[in-house]
Amino acid sequence: MAHVEDQGGTRRDFLYVATGAAGAVTAGAAIWPLVNQMNPAADVQALSSIQVDIAGVEVGSQITVKFLGKPVFIRRRTPEEIEAARETPVSELKDPLARNANHAAEDPALDENRTMDEAGEWLLMTGVCTHLGCIPLGEAGDFGGWFCPCHGSHYDTSGRIRKGPAPENLPIPVAQFVSETVVELG
Ligand code: FES
Repeated sequence: MAHVEDQGGTRRDFLYVATGAAGAVTAGAAIWPLVNQMNPAADVQALSSIQVDIAGVEVGSQITVKFLGKPVFIRRRTPEEIEAARETPVSELKDPLARNANHAAEDPALDENRTMDEAGEWLLMTGVCTHLGCIPLGEAGDFGGWFCPCHGSHYDTSGRIRKGPAPENLPIPVAQFVSETVVELG
């Protein structure tokens, strides 16, 4: 099982341009907590699924794990974040689709169709901006969710694009709870 470190709710996100690994740009010069084995991406890519222990993730914080070469955000949302996400009508959204691999492709972008659990505490999504592939920063932007500083895309507390050039909501990969505190990706 892959264990990850708790990010502690701070903004230690790591920004890079996915298409140019050699020309990595950092914002805040922080390292994301990866799966224990910080091996080359090839090793990670060899894994078709990983399990992540989320027992240590506190309300209002998130961890980032790397899966298939991409960062995956796992956030334990606050009641305020859940409320903000759930009271937003789909009609206000730029991208009306849930973009959740665990749902039908045509399912609407209701927050309920994007969270791991019914109560909406757990949000898990691929942390790659749908514009040109930067990694958005957490707890940032006009909607209190994620902000991609590359070209100014604002995502809400459900990871849905609300403002800026990104065309789609942050995608949700195949994922499921395998126990109360363990999530399996892939
Ligand atoms: S890559 Fe995120 S706004 Fe352009």
